[in-house]
Amino acid sequence: MSGSTLLSFVLLATSTVVRADYFSPDPLANKVVPFDAIPYQVMTDTDDPRGFQTGYNICNSTTETQDSMCQTMFVNHMDDFCLWAPPTANSTIADSEGIEVAWCSKKGHGTRIIPEGTITSLQMVKTPSYIQIAGTLNQNFINIGGTDGGELDSGGQDGEGNPMGGLVYTNNFNASNGNNGTYIQAQHWSFFIGDSAFCGKICDQTGSNPQGLCNNIYDRLGCEYNVPSDVEANTFEYCLGDDMMPVGTYVGTDGKTSVYTQPSSESISIDFDNLPYTPTPAPTSSCTQFASAAIFTDGVGVTVAAGNGVTNSSGATGASNTGSGTTAKATGSGASSSKTASGSTTSATGSSGAVALGVSAGAVAAGFFAVLAL
Ligand SMILES: *[C@@H]1O[C@H](CO)[C@@H](O)[C@H](O)[C@H]1NC(C)=O
Ligand SMILES: *[C@@H]1O[C@H](CO)[C@@H](O)[C@H](O)[C@H]1NC(C)=O
Ligand SMILES: *[C@@H]1O[C@H](CO)[C@@H](O)[C@H](O)[C@H]1NC(C)=O
Ligand SMILES: *[C@@H]1O[C@H](CO)[C@@H](O)[C@H](O)[C@H]1NC(C)=O
Ligand SMILES: *[C@@H]1O[C@H](CO)[C@@H](O)[C@H](O)[C@H]1NC(C)=O
Repeated sequence: MSGSTLLSFVLLATSTVVRADYFSPDPLANKVVPFDAIPYQVMTDTDDPRGFQTGYNICNSTTETQDSMCQTMFVNHMDDFCLWAPPTANSTIADSEGIEVAWCSKKGHGTRIIPEGTITSLQMVKTPSYIQIAGTLNQNFINIGGTDGGELDSGGQDGEGNPMGGLVYTNNFNASNGNNGTYIQAQHWSFFIGDSAFCGKICDQTGSNPQGLCNNIYDRLGCEYNVPSDVEANTFEYCLGDDMMPVGTYVGTDGKTSVYTQPSSESISIDFDNLPYTPTPAPTSSCTQFASAAIFTDGVGVTVAAGNGVTNSSGATGASNTGSGTTAKATGSGASSSKTASGSTTSATGSSGAVALGVSAGAVAAGFFAVLAL
């Protein structure tokens, strides 16, 4: 169940809205990058005042270390998906959104590997138009400090994405009869991570409404609204499912279909108790459950970087990691890290000179982060 209990974690911070009048002439979400033609860096716009891509997109066995700066990631199967997370220990998403790197559950992608014990629940749902993941995690194991969180997406305040130049692929869009398909790029995607929860959705460009289903303008609404799901504690399951309605779209009590838009200014707080609708996860079917030990084999023995306040202990089967202070929620409400957003906003409407609002990173409130964008 996606619950509303986490809403109590919503804390609004003061932060400065910086008007970013720059929008890339060559935005990330418009780039068609076949898997066999990935460039060293996909970002081409060197005039972006926010800077340039910090990592690279060609990733291989040489780059497969815990210092990898690989910015190409995958959402394939239960045993094979990645998250965007910071390159440096104990970072905030707000401070690092533009430079996140890929952390993957499986070896072979040239990325950092998610240490064992990180993912504590997971639901992956494949629908006709997208694949989504949601769950709970020990976020300190992958360099995210405290309970901080935010959104990473293919738009970003300037169209270059967060991380800038991040690419996403899957071999599951056209898999059939138990066989994996070829790697296909998802041009539109959004991920949320924070408050010991994560979620993400990658949209099939040939499916229905990829921009609307993977919209990135609802960054303050978190997992519950962007990636409605049924995450259950200590459960790891794969399901087929129906497409949800485009993010923000709902059928009201009057039977009419309406569209909710989050406030355009972060200075307007969102009254989570009085939003016009509460999302219901779209129907799922054919759910299959897995044991975490069966799907996270490649993380065994991978230790957490120093500086995260996590203790590595050696055991017969290799090192294991013990979180200090961060316990992933076992409430089954992993679907709602709804407190955050970190400046990753804007309509990624392409090249039409969209004016984006950016947010200066770094607002802190009472130990929680809530740098609110847009
Ligand atoms: C491996 O990836 C790195 C980083 O992108 C790149 O510099 C190097 O050329 C690649 N090696 C091969 C053999 O492709
Ligand atoms: C499909 O790919 C996943 C990882 O992406 C792998 O675990 C699985 O064995 C593959 N299945 C086949 C039939 O090749
Ligand atoms: C996936 O699509 C590609 C073309 O986009 C095709 O070559 C491949 O055979 C397909 N794979 C499956 C399993 O359908
Ligand atoms: C955990 O292990 C890594 C790799 O061996 C090491 O760099 C790091 O210092 C260790 N962390 C702690 C807190 O001991
Ligand atoms: C992480 O960073 C915060 C803010 O700088 C600091 O208060 C905290 O002690 C750091 N945690 C660790 C484990 O170093």
